[in-house]
Amino acid sequence: KTIVVTLDKEHPDGEAILRAGEIIKAGGLVAFPTETVYGLGGDALNPESSRKIYAAKGRPSDNPLIVHICRWEDIYKIADPVPEIAQRLAARFWPGPLTMILNKTALVPKETTGGLDTVAVRFPSDSIAQRFICAAGGFVAAPSANTSGRPSPTLAQYVKEDMDGRIEMILDGGEEVGIGLESTIVDLTGDIPMILRPGYVTQKMLEEVANQVDVDKTILDANCHLRPKAPGMRYRHYAPKGDLTIIEGAQDAVKEAICEKSRQATADGHRVGIIATDETMEAYRQNSNAASIKSVGSRLDEAAVGRSLYRILREFDDENLDILFSESFAESGFGQAIMNRLLKAAGHHVEQV
Ligand code: TXA
Ligand code: MG
Repeated sequence: KTIVVTLDKEHPDGEAILRAGEIIKAGGLVAFPTETVYGLGGDALNPESSRKIYAAKGRPSDNPLIVHICRWEDIYKIADPVPEIAQRLAARFWPGPLTMILNKTALVPKETTGGLDTVAVRFPSDSIAQRFICAAGGFVAAPSANTSGRPSPTLAQYVKEDMDGRIEMILDGGEEVGIGLESTIVDLTGDIPMILRPGYVTQKMLEEVANQVDVDKTILDANCHLRPKAPGMRYRHYAPKGDLTIIEGAQDAVKEAICEKSRQATADGHRVGIIATDETMEAYRQNSNAASIKSVGSRLDEAAVGRSLYRILREFDDENLDILFSESFAESGFGQAIMNRLLKAAGHHVEQV
């Protein structure tokens, strides 16, 4: 049976966090909130804990885990060398939604890194996450706390749906997480830093610290035949139950096309869902005949879109829809992360109108 403890962000129950830390030290698993998505934590230095994480998620064990720390200098215990650029990025973005790939030390077992000689390190800014990681001994391996193939959880309730009975404890941080999409991953083992997964910390923000930053080309390109460099980006994550198509084009044309396609599919007997924005919600209500229409927020507010995307994909999964349409979003800034997740959810199925 999984214990769920609801914590107050401002004054979290220290007793409960200590108990969660003890569970990790004893080789158990605890899910916890971070500023990006909920994590499924285990002792990063215990190979048996990493094996349990893969089993609980139903995740292939060659997909490495991120090691979460709660003091920046702890990076020296698990990574060597720590290049100067890593120090500068940490000074600017830690604690926060940035994960750095570095060469690992012998302290980190290969079970945690999916057999690789490199390790992913992240120092989250969420206060509950920080206290929990410290209580757990300082090194917590944590993938997102979803069953493999489902959207990452942005609420404790979604962790419970996926993990009930599979882990010892869930720390519930209350409200929805702040960012809603996973951390930016930057590989620092080569000559030029390379973004392997886009997130809230954008290429432009990184380039203010490191003069040049490359982006793994597989991130947004549907026709790219290269292998993504982050093993996890190769799997078809974030796959909704309904068949999702992204409609791209001028705003009014997109709105018209989605209404038209939705009416047609509904007439053919399908249950249609539409990922709308505040700007287009009303038009779909009136003209699409869709069974379900949900807004991710205003298209002018990328933070809101990023925060609600996974929740809406999960809600659609519960509504037995078989065809989904989504508008597309600008691929600059945080929009790159939004489009990367949306394109993956759609299996890169995009139609231009
Ligand atoms: O925001 C986040 O990063 C969340 C929260 C819980 O911190 N965690 C998260 O973990 O998204 P996960 O396991 O769902 O995604 C980790 C990604 C995977 O795509 C994995 O392949 C990649 O990081 N990764 C981990 N270690 C790596 C390494 N040494 N080299 C390349 N990619 C790595
Ligand atoms: Mg994940």
